[in-house]
Amino acid sequence: MAAGNVLPRGGVGGSADGIESSVAAALAQASAALAAAGIAGPRAEARLLLAAIIAGGAAAVTGYPERRLSAAEAAAFAALVGRRAAREPLSHILGRREFWSLDFQVSAAVLDPRPDSETLVQAVLEALPDRTRPWRLLDLGTGSGCLLLSLLSELPRAHGLGIDASPEALSLAGANALALGLGPRADFRRLDWNEPGWTAGLIPPADIVIANPPYIPSGEIAALAPEVARFEPRAALDGGGDGLDAYRRLAPALAGLVAAGGFVAFEVGAGQAAAVAAILAASARCLSVPEVRADLAGIARCLLWRRPGEDRRD
Ligand SMILES: C[S@@+](CC[C@H](N)C(=O)[O-])C[C@H]1O[C@@H](n2cnc3c(N)ncnc32)[C@H](O)[C@@H]1O
Repeated sequence: MAAGNVLPRGGVGGSADGIESSVAAALAQASAALAAAGIAGPRAEARLLLAAIIAGGAAAVTGYPERRLSAAEAAAFAALVGRRAAREPLSHILGRREFWSLDFQVSAAVLDPRPDSETLVQAVLEALPDRTRPWRLLDLGTGSGCLLLSLLSELPRAHGLGIDASPEALSLAGANALALGLGPRADFRRLDWNEPGWTAGLIPPADIVIANPPYIPSGEIAALAPEVARFEPRAALDGGGDGLDAYRRLAPALAGLVAAGGFVAFEVGAGQAAAVAAILAASARCLSVPEVRADLAGIARCLLWRRPGEDRRD
């Protein structure tokens, strides 16, 4: 639905008679517009959008409901509400997303970090015998860098390499590393796992290889929420006909990517765990039978394989 169809006459925060609205009235109008557009938490989102444009931010929104919006504030708020009513993701509009209690810059170039993906971060941390060793991490399809950087934030001597086919994603991941103070321990490189010989530059093998590859079956993408189907990068979603193309492509490379004593952690889509386990069993024979970690909804979300051998004793 176009924004013009859901915004009240005079716009959000403005009014048809030229008298500017209060914060409270603007919020009420915006909430109604967002609810009409099918947004699940319209009031909370309206507050976040208003906080993004008025001086004083969230404190001003909650503390001064009677404050009048200036014409410029009302216009800016109306523009943001219009974008959200058109189902652009809130994170894209605000340019930020919290993940693992860290603040990540996001954009239309990267997957919006999902709470479910924290399952993988947790699984890796639980699998490590000691968080203080200088672990070497490799993140395949790093996007915003949320998985790699969350792990580096918990592993004070670890270094990580994130790869992605998207230059825009890599630039955002690099910016996130710097903003989080992790720049000296994080490298990012453009590599496309569909290109022949793509692993040639990835030496030495990593202790921990992680990936949240695209895993939505191509034919299911159009039916996803508009925020996902229309606004998230196709390359971050599309896993081919059955959703498993990236796992098939990555599996044969793992033997050369993971060090003895190390492990591999992959996120999987709902219902994919057994199929992904079978793909890795067939291709990466050096790895153990996977351990399965469920997300908060009880869905098998992360598979973790160990590569037998001495882990490093640094
Ligand atoms: C599902 S997103 C995951 C992003 C991030 N790791 C996360 O968990 O939020 C998958 C990522 O894989 C990248 N990707 C897709 N195909 C790729 C390929 N052939 N080679 C390298 N990266 C690829 C996408 O650009 C995207 O950033």
